[in-house]
Amino acid sequence: MRLQNKNVVITGGASGIGLASVIRCLEEGANVVLSDLAGSEGAARAAELDGKHGGRCLFKACDVTDTAQVDRLFEETVNELGSVDAVFSNAGIGGVAPSHKVSDEEFLRIIDINLNGVFRVARAALRIMYGQGSGSIVNCASILGKFGQSNTAAYSAAKGGVVNLTRALALEAAPKGVRVNAIGPGYIDTPLIADLDKDLMNALIAMHPLGRLGRAEEVANGFLFLASDESSFVTGTTLMIDGGFTAGKS
Ligand SMILES: NC(=O)c1ccc[n+]([C@@H]2O[C@H](COP(=O)([O-])OP(=O)(O)OC[C@H]3O[C@@H](n4cnc5c(N)ncnc54)[C@H](O)[C@@H]3O)[C@@H](O)[C@H]2O)c1
Repeated sequence: MRLQNKNVVITGGASGIGLASVIRCLEEGANVVLSDLAGSEGAARAAELDGKHGGRCLFKACDVTDTAQVDRLFEETVNELGSVDAVFSNAGIGGVAPSHKVSDEEFLRIIDINLNGVFRVARAALRIMYGQGSGSIVNCASILGKFGQSNTAAYSAAKGGVVNLTRALALEAAPKGVRVNAIGPGYIDTPLIADLDKDLMNALIAMHPLGRLGRAEEVANGFLFLASDESSFVTGTTLMIDGGFTAGKS
């Protein structure tokens, strides 16, 4: 059991990569706080999973755009479980549109969830982890944090921000015994990309040298590594889980 008795918080845990990560952590002996929007499937998923693998699975509603909700998520977790050992700052939304048609509201919303939300979560976690002298924070970036792509300006800007935010936080946190890393998924078969046009989807698949979309469980396994002591000498990095997408052109 790679996370035996560890307490893990996962934002955006009701669906896709987040839900797969919740399940993998429970399978590895952790207690998990599955956090997501109040109206999500999160409460039902957590109720199904609580105790199934031995550990607790608690749902806590939290919108990562709301500082008070994020701070409360961590305060309540510490009060109920005693510590926060690992965090997956995974909540995010997509957004595909040509930039000249994107409104201020649309641009700022993607940045507020996908970048500012990651900072809010990290800040709240660091306050607790500094007191503990230990912890691992994992932020969800993307291949679009390392490469640009047409019609994804806000998303790419946010994910590029997450990659460098992760480096800066890692340097601050290292002397306090806390590690901060990111994961950079390629295109993963989740509800986030379910509405993409079929021709675009086929073109995107062809950009992955392994010739397929990734599975949420494959990203969850990367989170498991970064969350656990197996990665005890890893900080400030972005682990690409992208079927070779960012390796270059063949
Ligand atoms: N699927 C992909 O191809 C892909 C590729 C690279 C990166 N990612 C990243 O992976 C992460 C998870 O995406 P996914 O593919 O599992 O998508 P998903 O849509 O299946 O899950 C995202 C979850 O985030 C939650 N969420 C949205 N806004 C929120 C908010 N304001 N506060 C709290 N929770 C919120 C949603 O309710 C949902 O449960 C995201 O950060 C996404 O950008 C996904």
